[in-house]
Amino acid sequence: MNQTEALAARGAAVVMNTYSRFPIAFDHGKGCYVWDMDGKKYLDFVAGIAVNSLGHGHEALSKKIAEQAQKLIHVSNLYYTEPQISLAEAICAHSGFDKVFFCNSGAESIEAALKIARKYATMKGKPGRDIITMEHSFHGRTYGAVTATGQAKYQKGLDPLLPGVKHVPFNDLEALKAAVDENTCAILMEPIQGEGGIHPADKAYLEAVRALCDEKDIVLLFDEIQCGVGRTGELFAYQHYGVQPDGATFAKGLAGGVPIGAFMATERLAQAFQPGDHASTFGGNPLATAAGTVVMHELFENGVLENVKKQGEYLQQKLLECKEKYDIIADVRGVGLMQGIELTIPASDVIADSIAHGLLLVGAGTNVIRFVPPLIITKEEMDEAISILDGALARAQEKA
Ligand SMILES: Cc1ncc(COP(=O)(O)O)c(C=O)c1O
Repeated sequence: MNQTEALAARGAAVVMNTYSRFPIAFDHGKGCYVWDMDGKKYLDFVAGIAVNSLGHGHEALSKKIAEQAQKLIHVSNLYYTEPQISLAEAICAHSGFDKVFFCNSGAESIEAALKIARKYATMKGKPGRDIITMEHSFHGRTYGAVTATGQAKYQKGLDPLLPGVKHVPFNDLEALKAAVDENTCAILMEPIQGEGGIHPADKAYLEAVRALCDEKDIVLLFDEIQCGVGRTGELFAYQHYGVQPDGATFAKGLAGGVPIGAFMATERLAQAFQPGDHASTFGGNPLATAAGTVVMHELFENGVLENVKKQGEYLQQKLLECKEKYDIIADVRGVGLMQGIELTIPASDVIADSIAHGLLLVGAGTNVIRFVPPLIITKEEMDEAISILDGALARAQEKA
């Protein structure tokens, strides 16, 4: 038994069995590569599922984390700290939002979104408590977030779920209009569905949803946990559409791997939260938010957003070339460095083959392989990934 297998066996004995894990144990990383306990090197196109925005062992990020850890890791949100304010200022400066609430994860930011929507209705004296979300969406695993998630497999055996949540088909305006009534207080959706299989919203649809929300005074909430923080080449995916929501959620890549979540809102919506209405002990602590300021700096001041646009286009072009070559690819979808290929065969075989050849990939939805590398990925690394993928696709096609 090598060190990787030994650690995996120790893990299986003591860690709760909630993940179907690969028998791989990682030791360290640098840039877009990670190494297992036995020194095997992998090119990381998973990035902690769209979390390691600046890759591994990023110099400025790790330096900032170390310095902040020595200075101040945590104080209560009864007080202000400079990193928290700076990160909130940076997010507001690059969005149409006025206020930020910090928490620790994606699901937690969804909870803030769901709660503020109902608080807003209460503030306005409206009876509406219902929240509409999309089929095939993914919003997280807390009770509110898993209720909002439009996939029955995540809700099995958990009922009763949060009352007042309805699901409608994504990108279907008529279905949404039919579901909206006087009890609707909010609509929540991912502008690009991630976990559900990399499905971007149509521009005309998002514009029409915005108009519908304006007409009926419904709060429009975008889940940008996976598609946000520069992953598509803009800070928010909605910025590609020119459709401003009333609130949005962030998490994953915002602090480059340090746990963080954020809920952003326009002033009008933010007013619905008053002191005591919502809180999170660790939310926005100086360590996580200091890391977040480095990510924002790298995105805007160090060319990372430009890199995402450039490499994202290159990745999509290479995936389209693969589609020309292999009949087992049914579709290529995505924006920037959030791309997916839909296969006519189970994605798991191609993923396992790629991993065996040193490329980490992850699935999404049904038969979709997702590509969410660090935002600092280079053309050379992209070529290496495509070459490994090409081999795996060729072998899969031969077997199919
Ligand atoms: C779009 C979206 N929303 C919410 C979540 C939940 O985030 P977390 O796992 O940090 O709670 C995820 C996680 O994959 C996600 O992709």
